[in-house]
Amino acid sequence: MISEKLKKARDFEDHYGPFIPDSSRPAFHLTPTIGWMNDPNGFCLYRGEVHLFYQYHPYETKWGPMHWGHVKTRDFLHWERLPVALAPDTDYDRNGCFSGSALELPDGRHLLVYTGVRQVREKNGKLHDRQTQCVAVGDGVNYEKAAENPVITAADLPEGGSPFDFRDPKVWREGDSCYLVAGNRPADGSGSVLLYESPDCLHWTYKGVLAACHNQFGRMWECPDFFELDGRHVLLTSPEEMTAIGLEFHAGHGTVCLIGRYDRERCHLVRENVQAIDYGLDFYAPQTLLTPDGRRVMIGWMQNWETVGCQPANAQWFGQMTLPRELSIRDGRLIQTPVRELESVRSYQILYRNVLLNGMTTLQNVRGRVLDMTVTVRPGSQSALYGWFKINVAGNGEHMTTVRYKPECNTVRVDRTRCGFPHDIVNVRDFAVRPRGGEIKLRIVLDKYSMELFVNDGEQAATAVIYTDVSADAISFESMGSVIMDVEKYDLLLDRGGAYEQDI
Ligand code: FRU
Repeated sequence: MISEKLKKARDFEDHYGPFIPDSSRPAFHLTPTIGWMNDPNGFCLYRGEVHLFYQYHPYETKWGPMHWGHVKTRDFLHWERLPVALAPDTDYDRNGCFSGSALELPDGRHLLVYTGVRQVREKNGKLHDRQTQCVAVGDGVNYEKAAENPVITAADLPEGGSPFDFRDPKVWREGDSCYLVAGNRPADGSGSVLLYESPDCLHWTYKGVLAACHNQFGRMWECPDFFELDGRHVLLTSPEEMTAIGLEFHAGHGTVCLIGRYDRERCHLVRENVQAIDYGLDFYAPQTLLTPDGRRVMIGWMQNWETVGCQPANAQWFGQMTLPRELSIRDGRLIQTPVRELESVRSYQILYRNVLLNGMTTLQNVRGRVLDMTVTVRPGSQSALYGWFKINVAGNGEHMTTVRYKPECNTVRVDRTRCGFPHDIVNVRDFAVRPRGGEIKLRIVLDKYSMELFVNDGEQAATAVIYTDVSADAISFESMGSVIMDVEKYDLLLDRGGAYEQDI
């Protein structure tokens, strides 16, 4: 049965969505059908296809009562739009269907697990969210909320756990059991990730605190995801209210990856390493899935809560997802590389080898706004290390976005100060990279409204949204001191309307 709220949302996107020209959207990064999008939800394989849902407010380009938007894809690049999956249409989720995840059930049905939000007035007169975990089951298009909802409530919290900050269940199956992790605020006011187990996804038992923040990495931990990767266990989470720690963690909404060993007896992750997930400006609430060929693929919201007010004028959509990324672990650290499917849409290879640079240059045919470019740099002189090396993209004389590497301090800077944003927001991020005697490999994946940078074959990723006019397609290279560089550039051509193609 389709509720009135869901029907209204479906009618709205059906009616107005088609008027948004594809040309106003990125070439291959997902945007909402219409209106607002935040976190990826329910990223999972269902009947051989990858489904993705997202936090969705179709009626405005602002956050509002959360629905779940829905798309599916076969290659992580082309997204087929499906009707809104969930609307806040029951008493227990009347103020929003918050983030969650999905699973294919053994009987072939599709299970969604999400946070139902219901505002109640507390004794002190203040309105407070009550957050509970709920399920809905469907066929890949239509979903029915379970009669048993909510299936995890305040009664299932450990002592001191907050019923107001209890959200974002990520579910998985292991043997005969289903497990989920959810974010919670414990008595110390910071964040923790709780583990639950169920035989049927309807009846859940609290198992323990998988990991706790202890006010060390931000406060409330949102959107946890927990999985095995290359012989380790990995917990991804997105903390609110972080304070900066060196160049590793920036202030505000951040992302944290905890790598370690899973002590199943104690239901606890024994930490070996803690690092940021993305070192750029716009990345939050990532979620992963496992592909049939064994790849752990992550997608994130390519935005930051601090800057959601900065929107292009007259935008009919707001919010993008990152390019899905393949994860692995190397030397105890998280490695991220663009999904390999990206290589299938590369065309017009341009290759330069051993270009000697000291100052600034452009290279013939190296320009564009929808591209995949890898630049490998090494010192040009044995006697003196160069001062810095820069790549400027999305340039037109007035605007540009820059990646700069300084070998002496082993830092990379992403700088969109001059990308054309008419807002006084954070535009610069510095992060530390592994010292390699002045050698560095910078892979830049550019879409019309974003830049994703992968350093040294995925040792670091840094993402930034830009809204520079798409005609700004100049790329230049600059160095202080002598460097030698190799440049390998491909245009990314997607066979859909609105893909931006450049003339060569
Ligand atoms: C993270 C988040 C989640 C919540 C959702 C609401 O960005 O705050 O914790 O479920 O957004 O839209």
